[in-house]
Order: sequence, then C-alpha cells, then structure tokens
Amino acid sequence: MSKEPERGARAAGRAPRIALGVSGGIAAYKAAEVVRGLMKAGCEVHVVMTAHAREFITPLTLQTLSAHKVLSDPWDLSQGADIQHIALARDLDLLLVAPATADILAKLAHGIADDFLTTFYLAVTATVAMAPAMNLWMWEHPATRANVEVLKGRGVRVIDPGVGELACGEEGIGRMAEPEAIVEAALSLVKKKSRGRLRAAASS
Ligand SMILES: Cc1cc2nc3c(=O)[nH]c(=O)nc-3n(C[C@H](O)[C@H](O)[C@H](O)COP(=O)(O)O)c2cc1C
Repeated sequence: MSKEPERGARAAGRAPRIALGVSGGIAAYKAAEVVRGLMKAGCEVHVVMTAHAREFITPLTLQTLSAHKVLSDPWDLSQGADIQHIALARDLDLLLVAPATADILAKLAHGIADDFLTTFYLAVTATVAMAPAMNLWMWEHPATRANVEVLKGRGVRVIDPGVGELACGEEGIGRMAEPEAIVEAALSLVKKKSRGRLRAAASS
C-alpha cells in the first residue's frame, strides 16, 4: 500500500479539530464536561447534536462552552453556502460521539443518513470514536452487540461503558465512561498519526 502523506492538526500546525457528536441519552449532560476537557487541552471543538439530544441538554450550553455554533439541522445554511456536513468533515482530526445511544450505533452501523450527525459520519474520513451509554439490557442486546462489532470492524474506536448505577435505576454495564477518560482517549487518538477509518477498514 502506498505511503499516506501526513495530514491533520500536526501537519497543518494547528489545534486538533474535534467534532463531538451528542446523541439523545441521559448521559448527554456529561457532554458539557467532555467539551470543557477538550477545550482545556487546546482542541477546537465543534458540537453536532441529534434532535433527541436537544431534549437532554441545550445547544446554548454546548455552543457557549465550545465557542462554535452547534450543528444539528442539515437544512440550516445560515453559516454560508457550504454544505456544512461536508465542510466540517474536511480537515477533521476526530469524530467523537459521546454519548452514543443504541439508536445512533444502529444507524451508523447501517449507514443510515437521516440527520446531520448520521450524514456527517458518512462524510468523515478521520478517526471515529464512540462512548456508548444505555441501559444494560440495551447494551447486551444481540442487535447492539452486532452493531458494535460492525463499527469496530470498520476501525471505529469504542470507549467501553462502565459498570455501575444506571439512570434507569438498574445496576450493571451501560454507564458512559467518565468524561475525563473520554477526553484522555480522544487526546491519545488525535496525537497519533491518523490513518483514517477507511484505511483501517480496507486493511481489515
Ligand atoms: C429519559 C430518556 C432517557 C434515555 N436514555 C437513553 C440512553 O441512555 N441510551 C440510549 O441508547 N437511549 C436512551 N433513550 C432513548 C433514546 O432517546 C431514543 O432511542 C432516541 O431515538 C435516540 O435518538 P438519537 O440517537 O437520534 O439521539 C432515552 C429516552 C428517554 C426518554
């Protein structure tokens, strides 16, 4: 295989550019801590929210913390004539989805592109990481297990959920990894030379 030229933040001498996808689970409020951690580490952060995520945390909070307009509506062209999901996908170092719902894992595993985040995912060639968060039975369900395996097989890094008390009152696996651990994982991914998920998939 031919040698891929160095690209991304290190090659361009700029801050790592991270898109944080936020989907609609109870752990969405912790996305604020993830944004803060990434910003503190000197990253440029662009938040992409699903419509359901907006039920759990306001775009205003994430926009204020990230200092960038939150992207959610593929039909909103107020930022200019560029098709935004394509514009941001260019020159991105990492797409991090935290929290990743069972629903978003299923959509991404199957290439469904019916909102900003899912369409954006298909346009991204940078490294992709996900921090799933859900009820333990949703996490253990064969459908979710299969979707996670599909994504891993494509080179998506999965930041495994932990065990503990879940928002639904049950105890077990499914709790999103702590924001500090997610930030640490994201930083270690952007520091490495990104070969891109398409390349990983091609060699698997
Ligand atoms: C109060 C509440 C909490 C929820 N928490 C979760 C969750 O932690 N994980 C999950 O996968 N789904 C959760 N859901 C279900 C999702 O919101 C639902 O599947 C939704 O379609 C996800 O949409 P999105 O993936 O486009 O954001 C929750 C729903 C409600 C009403």
